[in-house]
Amino acid sequence: MRLDKFIADAGIGSRKEIKQALKGGLVCVNDIPEKNAARHINPETDSITFAGQKIEYKPFVYLMLNKPADTVSATYDNRDATVISLVPEEFSHYELFPVGRLDKDTEGLLLITNDGVLSHNLLSPKKHVDKKYFARLDGQIAKGDSEKFASGIVLDDGYKTLPAVLDAEIGSREAFVTIQEGKFHQVKRMFADVGKHVTYLKRVSFGPLCLDETLAPGEMRELTDEELALLKGE
Ligand code: URA
Repeated sequence: MRLDKFIADAGIGSRKEIKQALKGGLVCVNDIPEKNAARHINPETDSITFAGQKIEYKPFVYLMLNKPADTVSATYDNRDATVISLVPEEFSHYELFPVGRLDKDTEGLLLITNDGVLSHNLLSPKKHVDKKYFARLDGQIAKGDSEKFASGIVLDDGYKTLPAVLDAEIGSREAFVTIQEGKFHQVKRMFADVGKHVTYLKRVSFGPLCLDETLAPGEMRELTDEELALLKGE
């Protein structure tokens, strides 16, 4: 890995500032000042210091976003703001992407990372990762709705969903739903099958992660070590 990339990945300064620091002899590789930005280093074995401070190697970042409505779950879009455009500057040098998708009008927990392996594992249909949503509806929960969700719902394209948990009082216009898949508009289409339109949808958990309710829509934070270990099943 190039020395300047390693420093940039640690979130220390802009490309220009890093260049200047190297020139000024502020960067040492194994205690010897190094001025060559293109020098190849091994992040696992070499010790890199910046102004005397050791730089810890952090190849991956894991961010919990409280996705606001009106943003698309993509890295690039030529019409709408993307969830990646909300990422704070300090993480902008990572090649981040959202783990799966929420609809443009859906709010709530969306994981953003550059860890392709973890993302793949979490999205694999074989892994049956629980996703829990809070929904507001234009009609009331009826007797039998929970049972229909529990036995799987045949969507408008003929696909039968895996069993889902509908947690709501009969007569309520609000519900929690837990699904283990991520078919296009799945929760909205499941409610459509029982005659209700979803007017508001928010994801409140994803696998073992619960949405940090102190995050306002549009805000994000890094996962704690405990959350990350849970997510990786460690
Ligand atoms: N189901 C939906 O209908 N929309 C989402 O954004 C997520 C799940």
